[in-house]
Amino acid sequence: MSEHLHIAEGGKTEKYDLLYRQAREVVANEVDTIANMANLAAMIHQTFGFWWTGFYRVVGEELLLGPFQGPMACTRIACGRGVCGTAWQRGETIVVEDVEQFPGHIACSAMSRSEIVVPIFAGGKIVAVLDIDSEHLATFDATDKEWLERIVALFAR
Ligand code: SME
Repeated sequence: MSEHLHIAEGGKTEKYDLLYRQAREVVANEVDTIANMANLAAMIHQTFGFWWTGFYRVVGEELLLGPFQGPMACTRIACGRGVCGTAWQRGETIVVEDVEQFPGHIACSAMSRSEIVVPIFAGGKIVAVLDIDSEHLATFDATDKEWLERIVALFAR
């Protein structure tokens, strides 16, 4: 790995480390989940400059759009549909390097090129997903998965 890449990767981990500690403070100081989702979406979005960062909450049989940063998005996603509905159905994080290669990807924005969706567990079931879109290919990797899973685990308390 070149020195340049090594520095860039280190920067990502440092940003997530700080973000995690800030997120822990936010969640410790406020019990309302929607308010915390609003601040977490803003913090993640501002830290990395992603295209779209937000939450979909499980409401009845669907995912319903929650707090987010970025352009307007589709409001309701069925279980098993798109990256979000698939992450919900499988109960695991999905990293998509190229959204055009993901069958059934829901294109809320033509600018989105890569995506990560992280399920949020509380009381043993999925209550929401965190969805992040990038306008660049292959933005998300195992580092993003690991840290974003740690951040959303703060909701499970
Ligand atoms: N692309 C997502 C839909 C949500 S928007 O990206 C905000 C999906 O395929 O589930």
